[in-house]
Amino acid sequence: MSSEAQPQTTAHATGVKEPDPKILVFCCNWCSYAGADLAGVSRLQMPPYFRTIRVMCSARVDPEFVLRAFQRGADGVLVAGCHPADCHYIGGNYRTRRRIALLKMLIQQFGFDPDRLRLEWVSAGEGEKFQKTIIEFTNTIKELGPSPMARGDE
Ligand code: FES
Repeated sequence: MSSEAQPQTTAHATGVKEPDPKILVFCCNWCSYAGADLAGVSRLQMPPYFRTIRVMCSARVDPEFVLRAFQRGADGVLVAGCHPADCHYIGGNYRTRRRIALLKMLIQQFGFDPDRLRLEWVSAGEGEKFQKTIIEFTNTIKELGPSPMARGDE
């Protein structure tokens, strides 16, 4: 049987096994993806529960992408972009900041804790910040447990 057919779980101190968290990370090409790459080549240890999608700018992350990720079972979505004033497209990340604030309110209406969506600025030289962000976000998502979609609440 292939490993894809096996549900992946995490054992807890209580002995109860929960599915591993599924985290989607959108990284802008010019800063955050390079920061993620730096974390990787520096062999910084991170929980293995995230998948990265590279976009040209954090502003390329259409709200529909985030909603679709949650709809398809993501437990958490992280959007990482250039620091304010460093966006390669001048003001993309300012749009992203406003958009994420609105999306947090929207997902709350759908029964999702707004902490399941996070925005973080990570530069190309901040491999350690990328690592720290992934560790923190993974812990947050583990504390929140499986998404309402996975629990069948929605
Ligand atoms: S290019 Fe990085 S946030 Fe716009």
